Amino acid sequence: MEVVTSRAELTAARGQLSGDIGYVATMGALHAGHRALLDRARAGNRQVVVSIFVNPTQFGPTEDLSRYPRPIEADLAVCEQAGADLVWTPGVQDVYAAGDPRVTVAPGPLGNELEGAARPGHFAGVLTVVAKFFNLIRPTRTYFGEKDYQQLALVRRMSLDLDLGADVIGVPTVREVDGLALSSRNVYLDAVERQRAVGISRALFAGAADRPQAVGTARAVLDEFGIVPDYLELRGADLGPVIDGEPARLLVAARVGSPRLLDNVEVAP
Ligand code: PAF
Repeated sequence: MEVVTSRAELTAARGQLSGDIGYVATMGALHAGHRALLDRARAGNRQVVVSIFVNPTQFGPTEDLSRYPRPIEADLAVCEQAGADLVWTPGVQDVYAAGDPRVTVAPGPLGNELEGAARPGHFAGVLTVVAKFFNLIRPTRTYFGEKDYQQLALVRRMSLDLDLGADVIGVPTVREVDGLALSSRNVYLDAVERQRAVGISRALFAGAADRPQAVGTARAVLDEFGIVPDYLELRGADLGPVIDGEPARLLVAARVGSPRLLDNVEVAP
């Protein structure tokens, strides 16, 4: 496995790769959810490229950029074990070589809803850095977790609308045995909050089993756990309106203690 930092090193290393390239974009603090992305990339491609970069432009002014965990040695060990060929660990100046971007990717109306309503500018930051990564790495296939379902939907749409050429593949959420979705933010839960946090997945599973009343049923479970959601919505699979007879998606975001947790599940027709 080759590990590179500068943009020049990345360009040189990318030039040595041939055949299908599976790419996983991460902000590090890798857990079993990331490992599932890496495993899918390993299984489906000749070469696997990973980026580890905590992207400042997707954090709001009051968000936890400086507190974001950066366990680089452990992350590299995960990449190595998963059989990655090339890992790019750039600094801010490598990614934003021309300074703060003045031209950015506009996420469209979906970028202002759900997570976008709570985090103005977040998805412009995500899509802009992902577009840069796609241009530099030129992946054949790229793997994003369903856990951040809105991000997945927007990246998929961006690749299509801007002809970025990467096949964007969604990978199911990995969960703890009690159902809690794995997230880098789970480390901020104390023992009591960790017990309450299971209410999020329980609510979603209950809602998914009761499509006609999905939101009401899920809300009742959240109430039992004393969780007040920022949003709890049933949407179509592409996050547009729900279509009768087609799969839908039930999505929630809620604070449990300090961390804001996201989760979603499919709701079968
Ligand atoms: O999901 C993440 O970790 C980030 O949003 C991503 C896709 C790596 C872009 O910074």
